Amino acid sequence: MSIKEKIKTAASIIHSSNYIVVFSGAGMSTESGIPDFRSPGGLWSKYDPGEYAEYSAFLSHPEKFWTMHKELSQTVLEASPNLGHKSLVTLEKEYRKLKAIITQNIDFLHSRAGNSNVLELHGSGQTACCLSCGTEFYYTDIQKQLDEGKEVPKCPKCEGLIKPNVVLFGESLPSNVFQQAIAEISSADLLIIIGSSLTVYPAASLPSMALDTGARIIIINDEATMMDHQADVAIHGKAGVILPLILEELRNIDS
Ligand code: APR
Repeated sequence: MSIKEKIKTAASIIHSSNYIVVFSGAGMSTESGIPDFRSPGGLWSKYDPGEYAEYSAFLSHPEKFWTMHKELSQTVLEASPNLGHKSLVTLEKEYRKLKAIITQNIDFLHSRAGNSNVLELHGSGQTACCLSCGTEFYYTDIQKQLDEGKEVPKCPKCEGLIKPNVVLFGESLPSNVFQQAIAEISSADLLIIIGSSLTVYPAASLPSMALDTGARIIIINDEATMMDHQADVAIHGKAGVILPLILEELRNIDS
């Protein structure tokens, strides 16, 4: 099937669906300038996740995490939602079909674009907390300490270690969010998987749950994924290009 035919097929599946859930990964945000993790040149080609993004490593060498965070946070703060994010807002607000976004991303771009029910499986870089006294911080409070040249931000109240509310390797996912994600997938009649290599568990276990509920599956990804053969349609391309084309097709069907 040509990419044009796949886009038509995806639009007709969306047209006949009423409870759409999106599962997104870092590929959703690369067109906003935020690198993904496993593509060539991705974050893990520069930083070993075992050293820079693992919980026990964070406790023993927090300066490594903060070095990576310093580079990435500027990119995230300067990033804006791309045409892929905006297409999902249209699917929610105009078509009233998109009921939830389950994202592995910590860049809060789905919320900034305007989607309302965003489940952040891996947390968000927007807030942080002191690991000793539990004081909560907003990311601008931390940015100030980093801008003043502090290598490792510390809690102004108790000098404890501050950690952004993102899930590092070796940490469990927020169980309430995971349970909500399972509930959304079980209600979905269509799951659209966008920009994920589907290689990191337990997050990657969610899309396959849709196979058991009989939901249709659309995959939009820059490369093949291990679920392509189980999808109703798998489209290889950029989310910021493919999603607007699918919406265009949807308008044609509706007109
Ligand atoms: N459009 C569509 N797909 C894209 C785009 C794009 N513009 N850019 C990249 N991709 C694809 C890549 O081909 C890749 O298959 O998105 C996928 C991104 O895969 P990863 O980099 O592995 O990111 P992700 O799946 O989100 O990783 C999951 O792993 O390291 C942890 O916590 C981290 O949340 C992350 C998790």
